[in-house]
Amino acid sequence: MDASNKHEDAGKTLEAQAKAFFDSAPPLHNSHKISQDLNHFIQHNSSSLENGEARRIVCVTSGGTTAPLEQRCVRYVDNFSSGHRGATSTEYFLKAGYAVIFLHRRGSFQPFCRSLPDDPLLECFEPTNDLNIQVREAYSEAVKRAYMNHHTAVEGCLLLKLPFSTIFEYLQMLQMIAISMRCVGPRAMFYLAAAVSDYYVPWKDMVEHKIQSGSHLLDVKLVQVPKMLSVLRKDWAPQAFCISFKLETDSSILLNKANAALDKYNMHAVVANELLTRKERVVVVTSAEKITVLRDNSESANDVEDPLIKLLSERHTAYIEDSSR
Ligand code: PMT
Repeated sequence: MDASNKHEDAGKTLEAQAKAFFDSAPPLHNSHKISQDLNHFIQHNSSSLENGEARRIVCVTSGGTTAPLEQRCVRYVDNFSSGHRGATSTEYFLKAGYAVIFLHRRGSFQPFCRSLPDDPLLECFEPTNDLNIQVREAYSEAVKRAYMNHHTAVEGCLLLKLPFSTIFEYLQMLQMIAISMRCVGPRAMFYLAAAVSDYYVPWKDMVEHKIQSGSHLLDVKLVQVPKMLSVLRKDWAPQAFCISFKLETDSSILLNKANAALDKYNMHAVVANELLTRKERVVVVTSAEKITVLRDNSESANDVEDPLIKLLSERHTAYIEDSSR
């Protein structure tokens, strides 16, 4: 497979590349319903709380995007991410008082379901003598907790879950969310933990039907996905507090890459993590400092996302205060 960024888009400005990406993407199936749900969620969470302030809203992106190789897709290039970071962070954002838009890959980890087995429907239930079903004793607490927490968040209009699979769906939905969240101003946060495709096949260059397996060599040209982080900051939601992630497998380049991303995309912070230690340790890189955040190993139930979200929420408070001066 030939990964090449030599394409007709290469000489265009980022704005023009972004426009070309959206103009040529297959339309989102349920965009009207998504837009209605988003507007309702944002409006609901924009009314003042008891303390006179409005709730903060964070968009958490989670899981990996796919880049399809065929329009009637049988095969695709995937990006590694289980969605654990995004799902866990969502739980801590809710705990910190945020309303969360959870933009996630279909089938990836979901908030409040981490303590359930892989196949909860089949493993958590058992038949009773009168041919009904009941929750197995061993899972009864975990199921009750997951169900109640999830139900409270969704029914209370504090958690809106929007699924994606492809890079086309992800970027179109991220754009819709960001533009809808403009009215939230500095109370909006973007926490971009999704692993987003760097290369894709533009829809118009993609074959319609399943690629046949006859030939020895498969020659597919992949084009660079425009990095939408700058467009998000500059055009879509310029007042929002923006956190992106940097994942590397080589620790010697991680912090330099995170620093470069901070400058290049004008992020408020970049969370740097290494593949093997990502559940234990992250480094929050800002223009002023680098803060190492560690999982507290004294209690087995602790997550690195607990101190991470506390830190980012404090920084967001300072950002909101600064913005109102
Ligand atoms: O889900 P888990 O298994 O728990 O793993 C969590 C994680 C390792 C996936 C997560 O912590 C993480 O690091 N996510 C970002 C991974 C990544 O793709 O990094 P990157 O260096 O390729 O991208 C950096 C940033 O640019 C990301 O915030 C991404 O959303 C953004 N990006 C990337 C490519 C692209 N075309 N457009 C983008 O906006």
